[in-house]
Amino acid sequence: MSSDVLFEINLDYFRKNFLKYTRKAFQILPKLDKPRILDIGCGSGVQTIELAKLSNGEIIGIDINQSLLDRLNKKIEEAGFSNRIKALNCSLFDIKFPDESFDIVWAEGSIFIIGFTKGLIEWKRLLKPKGFLVIHDDIIRVKSGFKEIRSCGYKLLNHFSLPDDAWWEEYYGPLEIRIKQLYKKYNSDPDALKVLNKQQKEIDMVKADPKIFVSAFYIIQKIE
Ligand SMILES: C[S@@+](CC[C@H](N)C(=O)[O-])C[C@H]1O[C@@H](n2cnc3c(N)ncnc32)[C@H](O)[C@@H]1O
Repeated sequence: MSSDVLFEINLDYFRKNFLKYTRKAFQILPKLDKPRILDIGCGSGVQTIELAKLSNGEIIGIDINQSLLDRLNKKIEEAGFSNRIKALNCSLFDIKFPDESFDIVWAEGSIFIIGFTKGLIEWKRLLKPKGFLVIHDDIIRVKSGFKEIRSCGYKLLNHFSLPDDAWWEEYYGPLEIRIKQLYKKYNSDPDALKVLNKQQKEIDMVKADPKIFVSAFYIIQKIE
């Protein structure tokens, strides 16, 4: 069953290796009491749950993939965060929160969907004055839009790159070991093999050039 194999791959297990970078980025922000945080493209919410642990705030995670949101909802319940985290099925192209609703907009792996400059422009209205935008994305994409940070009315407070080989060493490499085990288990299940092949294709791409994905965090403050 492909849903069983997806469950067994458990991408969250590998994604958690990057939580140390989420924590590092959060700790760069000044201390905020009960911040309202919008987590854009939250997925299954590995970092959403972490943001709730790091802050005493309220977090809204938005995504369009309902099965990922269902997983997040389960985690919210298990962690006892139902009063502090909401998971909403909402497209980042159609965010309807009023202006100045959030102290922090958090976007790991999602600004590329709307485009760096457009994300800066559209998400600024959601931030309270002097609010923070935290972006984790491909370093090349962000660097190419770097000058826009200032012209869009923000200042760059800080930024840091993940180690060049982080995506291989901390995500795709360990994931490949899990995928190999599952190939043995599901070798006569065509649906499961489809899922495994898709994952393996992505792994092969990174394996061929482990520095293909170098990502970075940008901690940006709204100034105008
Ligand atoms: C690379 S994943 C990042 C997930 C999560 N932020 C993380 O760091 O693990 C990108 C996420 O964006 C979501 N996404 C794609 N298009 C979207 C849209 N139009 N609106 C909201 N979320 C979207 C995907 O479903 C996916 O969960």
